[in-house]
Amino acid sequence: MSTIGHHDFRMPGAVRFGVNALLTLPDEIKHRPATKLALISDKGVEGAGLVQKVIELLQPLSIPMVVFTEIKGEPTFNLLESTVRMLQQEGCDLVVGIGGGSAMDVAKTTAALLDKADLAAYLSGVSVIESRTIPCILLPTTSGTGAEVTMNAIFGDEEQELKRGLVSPALLPDVAIIDPLLTLTCPAKVTAASGVDAFTHAIESYIAVRSTLMTRMYAEKAMKIFPQHITRAVHHGGNLEARIGMSLVSNLAGVSLANAGVGAVHALAYPLGGKYHIEHGVANALLMPYVFEVTGRACTEQMVQVAKLLQLGDFDKQPYEALDAVVQYMYRLLDELDLPTSLKQLGVDEASLPVLAEQASKVERLLSNTPYNLTYEKIVGIYKKAYSGQ
Ligand SMILES: NC(=O)c1ccc[n+]([C@@H]2O[C@H](COP(=O)([O-])OP(=O)(O)OC[C@H]3O[C@@H](n4cnc5c(N)ncnc54)[C@H](O)[C@@H]3O)[C@@H](O)[C@H]2O)c1
Repeated sequence: MSTIGHHDFRMPGAVRFGVNALLTLPDEIKHRPATKLALISDKGVEGAGLVQKVIELLQPLSIPMVVFTEIKGEPTFNLLESTVRMLQQEGCDLVVGIGGGSAMDVAKTTAALLDKADLAAYLSGVSVIESRTIPCILLPTTSGTGAEVTMNAIFGDEEQELKRGLVSPALLPDVAIIDPLLTLTCPAKVTAASGVDAFTHAIESYIAVRSTLMTRMYAEKAMKIFPQHITRAVHHGGNLEARIGMSLVSNLAGVSLANAGVGAVHALAYPLGGKYHIEHGVANALLMPYVFEVTGRACTEQMVQVAKLLQLGDFDKQPYEALDAVVQYMYRLLDELDLPTSLKQLGVDEASLPVLAEQASKVERLLSNTPYNLTYEKIVGIYKKAYSGQ
């Protein structure tokens, strides 16, 4: 955990948070010279009426618009590439992404790649995306991935059955507009998985090797307000107060994730997404207690703080008991939010666990950010336990 030296802290050009913040979108577009706008989303968000809402809001601007709602959950590099090619042909010069992490990841990466000729070098990770010349505005409809404020975008590599992240400050949007009203229609299952995903971002970035005083401030606040809102947001989706709370959790955790990175939970979740197409939030939520049971041993002091933030008790005098309280809380979350509790339940083949562990042990970017040396054997052990369930 770095407490000396220097570090960058990056955010989008503007982060606008609040009920009805969506209504400011036309002004943002007016201030940016654009001849053709690309509106990127998916069928679920379109079905909830949110794409139409944006179209109607932008109609008075009379800017030609390409509406593309073919984004699939857990998007692949192939989908990203075809989206970039399509918008290049259309001559779009401003991108608006509305949706969960899937639509936002495609939207922001498309905006960053739209003026690039050699896509393959960027998609393979050989070339880092250094700049973006086309404006990009993101509006999250889940709470969430925090993708509206992160420098990452995650895609599935179909050939290698892997998920891989692209990382660059060019993936930060010009404006992130977080309007909790956009999350009111988010289905309970997605609210649960993406909500616990946000908590995973907070706790993993909190203990991250690259965490700083500033990132920990964001992570701490996210963890403190998470328990007050998650259950109501899932079981009473129309409750605006809970939706506002979870929008805030997601955004704060996203800022912390963007600047400190995440760790082993994500490293072990990636292969589950790549091979079995298990949703990112579901995989993270399920793996979190199993991973923390092991890695949390290296962060006793932080676990005491986390237990306090989650109002699980004061463990100052018995610091080694804090980890168990935190892990039990993580298990309870799975039950209370009706999330899967074992890999078996998700259709994972037990025989594939060693291969998954091999893939996870190669996610060096995230494992090196975890303050615990997770060997291949330990990773197999975690997958085995998660396979059977607690
Ligand atoms: N870039 C990052 O920093 C980052 C961080 C975490 C996860 N991710 C990525 O984000 C993706 C997951 O995103 P997600 O969990 O937000 O889910 P998602 O974007 O895949 O959406 C899940 C489903 O919920 C529906 N939906 C979303 N909002 C809705 C709404 N308001 N009303 C009705 N339906 C709605 C969508 O149509 C979709 O069917 C994964 O690909 C993951 O790898 C990215």
